[in-house]
Amino acid sequence: MARHAHVAGRAAYDALVAGASADYTGYWARIARKFVEWKTPFTQVLDESDAPFFRWFADGTLNVSHNCLDRQVAAGRGDKVAIVFEADDGQVSRVTYSELLARTCRAANALKAQGVKKGDRVVIYMPMSIEGVVAMQACARIGAVHAVVFGGFSAQALRDRIIDTEAVLVVTADQQLRGGRALPLKAMVDEALALGGCQAVRTVLVYRRTGGEIDWVDGRDAWLHEATEREPDTCEPEWVDAEHPLFLLYTSGSTGKPKGVQHSSGGYLVQAAVTTQWTFDLHDDDVFWCTADIGWVTGHTYIAYGPLAVGATQVVFEGIPTYPDAARFWRMIEAHRVSVFYTAPTAIRSLIKAAEGRGDLHPARFDLHSLRVLGSVGEPINPAAWEWYHAHVGGGRCPIVDTWWQTETGAQMLTPLPGATTLVPGSCTLPFPGIDAAIVDEAGHELPNGQSGLLVIRKPWPSMIRTIWKDKARYASSYFPPELGGAYLAGDGAMRDVDTGYFTIGGRIDDVLNVSGHRMGTMEIESALVACTELVAEAAVVGRPDDTTGEAICAFVVLKQERPTGEAAARLAAELRQWIGREIGPIAKPKEIRFADNLPKTRSGKILRRLLRSVAKGEAITQDVSTLENPAILDQLAEAH
Ligand code: WT7
Repeated sequence: MARHAHVAGRAAYDALVAGASADYTGYWARIARKFVEWKTPFTQVLDESDAPFFRWFADGTLNVSHNCLDRQVAAGRGDKVAIVFEADDGQVSRVTYSELLARTCRAANALKAQGVKKGDRVVIYMPMSIEGVVAMQACARIGAVHAVVFGGFSAQALRDRIIDTEAVLVVTADQQLRGGRALPLKAMVDEALALGGCQAVRTVLVYRRTGGEIDWVDGRDAWLHEATEREPDTCEPEWVDAEHPLFLLYTSGSTGKPKGVQHSSGGYLVQAAVTTQWTFDLHDDDVFWCTADIGWVTGHTYIAYGPLAVGATQVVFEGIPTYPDAARFWRMIEAHRVSVFYTAPTAIRSLIKAAEGRGDLHPARFDLHSLRVLGSVGEPINPAAWEWYHAHVGGGRCPIVDTWWQTETGAQMLTPLPGATTLVPGSCTLPFPGIDAAIVDEAGHELPNGQSGLLVIRKPWPSMIRTIWKDKARYASSYFPPELGGAYLAGDGAMRDVDTGYFTIGGRIDDVLNVSGHRMGTMEIESALVACTELVAEAAVVGRPDDTTGEAICAFVVLKQERPTGEAAARLAAELRQWIGREIGPIAKPKEIRFADNLPKTRSGKILRRLLRSVAKGEAITQDVSTLENPAILDQLAEAH
């Protein structure tokens, strides 16, 4: 494998790292020329004059969709399958690069016909589908900025994003199919728009996925197939500056309000392409499958852009790993001869559990010999899950690339490279060549290997976040705190191994949870709870470790009424979980809600979350509680379980 790999061995990796450290901008310029076709070649590489607002390749122009589609057709990949789509019910359809280009052009023309212009924002609220990818590519083609909202977010969350982006158009579907169930999408858009404040939206384009009953607003709603059918299948790409925003993607931070992470066109595409090719060691005959949803950054970089930018064939899957049963992934890998498979630890852990009691669901029952490389993303992978994945899915022969990155980094940052990096279960090993990662203390001093501290990236990189939409100050203060001297603060704790220098990620250092690889802000859930003004007086949300989902959400709630017990408590907890489902989405529903007369507070009124974390874990409180105003409350909280 090492002989044929793009980065063929540790010496090749070391040479790249040395090249990047000797001439940082020269290194990235070479990659940018190799992986992206520029309309106007750039002459500037990195502009740091307005740090931390960095600009990459700023005088170059390009079009992302041209790079992903036209360029592949021109390179002779017109008849190559770009996407193998497998629907929830198992039906399979395929599109070639030529077809994907034609469909993207029709959709781009349809957007233009609806008055969407360069720089306008388009919200995409779609199921996993070829149409979803086409909608993203169509925006890129005309220079519109997409903001994909995960289909599991509620009407209220969708509305917040429509308002913040001032979107002029929403692309959605009548319904989405997941695990044999039809779930509403168009109805959620209707509800979001009815809640008000979304006056910029002129059009709702509706992809007919199921044909299920939906309401219709004449003059506003249009069928996607009708709007695209009448359009020509060519569309001149809009050439944009490298810094032109390609997309906004909302993610949780440590305050109640999600942040609209803004990404660029040029730098983003450069790094999406090079990481897709090197991290997965992707070759022309590979079949790549990333199981993420296009609603998350992984689905942006490793479905909608990276694989297409390197001309790969990829599987796109509509459904869920456990339907019709927990062997779905193995069956699909076998059927589509998947060679590179990229999924999340939470999925692996749930499939391990499922296979424990049912031999017929075990990957050993399937022919998975097509697999060559496995990937993991979204949260730390525990060594036991790593070993199982390696032995039973990868047959002991496939390297696992444990890729650490974030919505903000745009692309993988710390990861092994197949054939170049000796693997250690549970470690994302070393920086991607050209990434300057380090572990520092709170004052910004680099720590010796073996000591845990803050993970930072010391030099700007091409696919980095450009700003938080409409909130430059929050961008600067969240990611570039002054004490770190200009380094990017990732928000994760981490440590480097004493001997190898390998990185191991501990987890978030802020009030952000990782539940099944989904990022959730505790403040966001608290705000949602206290927004239930009739019931809730006060709430605090913490995470606790969970065997399957990594972390689980645990909420402590003080009601306006007397503290409920027994059945009344169960009923109210169910009511609040439903409320959160409506305010944010089902992914934010707490696993556990405990009611109390009060929360543990200092005399100055500060809630002591570390105590709540111990209570949630079921630990005995050993910390000093002398600063507590109301120590007796701890017994009540522990009992409330
Ligand atoms: C947070 C970012 C990256 C795409 C999906 C998540 C955690 C991510 C790993 C990994 C340990 C990981 C971090 C990070 N994380 N990958 N391989 N090992 N932790 O993107 O929603 O922006 O979340 O996910 O805590 O900060 P995201």
